[in-house]
Amino acid sequence: MNLYNDEIFSLAPSRSMEFIAKAKLMQKSDPSVISLAGGEPDFATPSPICEEAVKWLRAGYTHYTICPGLPELRVGIAEKLKRDNNCNYDPDGIIVAPGGKFAIYLAIRSLVNKGDEVMYLEPGWVSYPAIIQASGATPVPVRLSQVDSFKLTREKLESAVTPNTKILIVNYPNNPTGKCLSQGELDDLVAFLEAHPQVLLMSDEIYERIVFTGSSNLSPASIPQIASRVITINGFSKATAMTGWRCGYLATTPEIAKVIYRLYQHTISCVSGFIQKAAVVALGCTEEIEQMRKRFEARRDLFINGMNSIPGVSAEMPEGAFYAWVKFDWNSMNSEEVCNLILEKARVVGVPGIAYGTDEPYVRFSFAESDEILAETVRRIKEVSPVK
Ligand SMILES: Cc1ncc(COP(=O)(O)O)c(C=O)c1O
Repeated sequence: MNLYNDEIFSLAPSRSMEFIAKAKLMQKSDPSVISLAGGEPDFATPSPICEEAVKWLRAGYTHYTICPGLPELRVGIAEKLKRDNNCNYDPDGIIVAPGGKFAIYLAIRSLVNKGDEVMYLEPGWVSYPAIIQASGATPVPVRLSQVDSFKLTREKLESAVTPNTKILIVNYPNNPTGKCLSQGELDDLVAFLEAHPQVLLMSDEIYERIVFTGSSNLSPASIPQIASRVITINGFSKATAMTGWRCGYLATTPEIAKVIYRLYQHTISCVSGFIQKAAVVALGCTEEIEQMRKRFEARRDLFINGMNSIPGVSAEMPEGAFYAWVKFDWNSMNSEEVCNLILEKARVVGVPGIAYGTDEPYVRFSFAESDEILAETVRRIKEVSPVK
């Protein structure tokens, strides 16, 4: 008998977490090391949110909250999804989880059986294939290409679908490419889903509040003919700088939510009550969210323009999220070689594109850092560029 579960034992470690840990270790002995490997806002959680949590903590609101989410939070989320995303979700279809990541796991684990396939976009977030695998299903990448700016097309979706496909995961604004879902792509997505009625769509919209001027992000659940098949994922980590609070959610039909709640009850029981109370306040922090969004936009401009000024380096302007997806045409070096070079010579940490499933020499940098750090990053990388 094996000591470990085969699916868990064979999971690849998270490459982005590996680089974040490496950076933290290096920073201990050399504080001048710059880490742009992380995936979190550098801003403090807005104070009204913190004050609300403290208020409820002091009031002793520290016991189990036996429910898939406090009623006021689930109603607030349903209202937010209607107001901001034009999606009609019943509060009974909303489940509050300890982070969007766990919401994704709960949903996939509750929906798939052995032999089922789950499609996801590549380049894509490092955790999708691992979560699919941990749930006993088979991850199937839909390869998007830099040649057409990582555009999602019906053709690409059709080339990956089989009769065993159970779920398609899309993520816009995208980590790592920074692309938003366009009307044309949404039309293709709808046509694809209509042609494959057995496929559910998981739309991971965790960066939905970080969209830059001139771009907009569309929510697939706003389309009536597919709405009941769309599981929307979102949360508080990125929009309201609450990564460490661990609070996210999924939205689906009440029928599907009932099944997911069975797994929820036997695993996490609930999300801390005082955190959920604070999340209700976070839903109303529109002014704070907008201020952070504007700062991200200014940093994006500074960083992308800076990177494009380095010989052999090119990056498209991200439309959303806070990542720069940067290509290094540096004497045929691959993404890991580039990362090692800039780590050793420039003391800058990025995540190699290979972690997101691409063989192209891309590196993902987070620009959720101060202007000074971003400018210094550009300066250091320019200095060590082997291409002059
Ligand atoms: C694409 C994507 N989805 C989901 C998450 C999960 O975020 P959290 O679990 O903090 O809500 C992340 C975090 O990095 C992400 O990049």
